[in-house]
Amino acid sequence: MTPMSFDQQTPNTTGLGQVDRSGHRVRVDDKAMINCRADVNQLLPLKYRWAWERYLAACRNHWMPTEVSMQADIELWRSRDGLTEDERRMVKRNLGFFAASESLVANNIVLAIYRHLTNPECRQYLLRQAFEEAVHTHTFQYICESLSLDEGELFNMYREVPAITDKAAWALKYTQNLSDPDFTTGTPADDQAFLRDLVAFYVVFEGMWFYTGFAQILSLGRRNKMVGISEQYQYILRDESLHLNFGIDVINQIKAENPHLWTDALQAEVREMLQSACALEIAYGRDTMPRGLLGLNADLCREYMHVITNRRCGQLGLSPLFPEARNPFPWMAEAMDIKKEKNFFETRVIEYQTGSSLSWE
Ligand SMILES: [Fe+2]
Ligand SMILES: [Fe+2]
Repeated sequence: MTPMSFDQQTPNTTGLGQVDRSGHRVRVDDKAMINCRADVNQLLPLKYRWAWERYLAACRNHWMPTEVSMQADIELWRSRDGLTEDERRMVKRNLGFFAASESLVANNIVLAIYRHLTNPECRQYLLRQAFEEAVHTHTFQYICESLSLDEGELFNMYREVPAITDKAAWALKYTQNLSDPDFTTGTPADDQAFLRDLVAFYVVFEGMWFYTGFAQILSLGRRNKMVGISEQYQYILRDESLHLNFGIDVINQIKAENPHLWTDALQAEVREMLQSACALEIAYGRDTMPRGLLGLNADLCREYMHVITNRRCGQLGLSPLFPEARNPFPWMAEAMDIKKEKNFFETRVIEYQTGSSLSWE
């Protein structure tokens, strides 16, 4: 008895091939993260319980941006001296970066990652994540509408503001390769290309580049400014912590199942990716904050990004790039330190959380 598509040269990794009427039932040991020949339409039996747990945790974190009142933000944004010019510039560029980035991340999941990750429980999580990215994009639509921002300016910043464009262009290199309809995994070189995409989007985009933005907006919120956006960012941060940790688990599981892929050369390349991504984020910090504000400045954000980069290196089993770095934002620990990141998804939310009650045990 042969599982689905054994007769084909390329395994049917999409789940949309011919039904294999004579194939056997999927056994746990048939399942694999990539290049799996077992039927991807059979969720059970579960092999990767961590992926299922992440899916359940994500569902418990359900929220919608419209549940958060924007009234105080609208009043502050409209008042002539509610915010300084520097604060307005930072807010707009921050929103502009996130507005398009949420779509880039979503498109990468749906059009690149999903096809090549050949495990149903991981795909279950990806489906949930794709919805969350839609919720995040919705958040920026809602903010744009609430504050009457120039939508063309906001959604084109990723094309028009060099510090933002540089980041988008850096990441798109990795997904362009994978979203090519002719691309398939199955050779060490192609499997490594898939790993690079996972690093670029999960570790860099969601795990590094969102963090300066979180720090900026939460810093405003701590000063009782733009409290609606600040609350929405806390929800997004909670979601992104899960996305990041799912991505790290996926990468490490693929490494464990395919140790031949994680060569010294690829490890060196991934460290270089994190180093260049860190440099782009430091440039973005300078662009959005040419002068210090809200207890933040570009130098402190650089130090903070070094700390975040070290953390991502450690999660991938790599030595830190900036061993001397110390966290300059101890106040961020409340929302963002590693213990909290871990605890976000290990905790049980008591009930469906509406905009007025952002809390977790
Ligand atoms: Fe997102
Ligand atoms: Fe995300």
